[in-house]
Amino acid sequence: MPSSVQFRSVSVEPILHDINLRIAAGEAVAFVGRSGAGKTTTLRLVNGLARPTSGEVAIDDVPLGSADLIQLRRRTGYIIQGSGLFPHRTVYENVATVPRLLGWPDPQTRAAAEELLAKLDLPLSRFGDRYPRSLSGGEQQRVGIARAMIAKPAVLLCDEPFGALDPIVRRDLQDAFRALRSGVTILFVTHDLAEALRITERIVLFDGGRVVADSPAAEFTSQPLPLVQKFVAAASLPA
Ligand SMILES: Nc1ncnc2c1ncn2[C@@H]1O[C@H](COP(=O)(O)OP(=O)(O)O)[C@@H](O)[C@H]1O
Ligand SMILES: [Mg+2]
Repeated sequence: MPSSVQFRSVSVEPILHDINLRIAAGEAVAFVGRSGAGKTTTLRLVNGLARPTSGEVAIDDVPLGSADLIQLRRRTGYIIQGSGLFPHRTVYENVATVPRLLGWPDPQTRAAAEELLAKLDLPLSRFGDRYPRSLSGGEQQRVGIARAMIAKPAVLLCDEPFGALDPIVRRDLQDAFRALRSGVTILFVTHDLAEALRITERIVLFDGGRVVADSPAAEFTSQPLPLVQKFVAAASLPA
């Protein structure tokens, strides 16, 4: 089941200041902003890799302060640039990581991996026994998506997952990702506004550790804020 996420007056001094956000269960939100704006730190608050110096982060309105970190990381998927796959595990073993931690029976894991990898154009019969180093960057990133999504995380955290890919592969992965995202709560960090608009329905703009804009994707580009217009000018948006 997808979860909601709450940031209540969260600061991580000296990086983040007074972040207030409510993300609904099943909503996909992009965190956009220049490098150093505080996007990654905000994301890491949700899986406990960063801690507030004041305020609180909650999942389904349950504050994380007291949460079991191991449980928390099993409930949150994390997709990063460069895929972060385990190099000594095959594609199948990588994808099966969380189901095994959760104690799924093998046939259930296998069936779920088969279905998900097929949707990502990586048939298990051809790719299951391969090792990450024998895959292209785009294929590795697809395996990373499958690994993060197979157990339907309560929240999926994505930190510039397609940042290192060439534009055509990147576009394919954006489409594949969008086809899988329904019913998942997604926090997606990117500095690419075109990508944010393609993948999510809401854009949150960070600057200097603060949220400076927060709007439905369809309305974002028409805001007069100079930084918004800078991002619009930098993105090659479809007319
Ligand atoms: N662990 C840390 N200790 C101190 N400063 C940090 C730490 N992590 C990030 N920063 C700084 O906080 C700011 C925001 O970083 P980050 O959240 O990574 O931004 P973004 O992802 O938007 O590029 C940057 O100036 C960065 O150098
Ligand atoms: Mg970052």
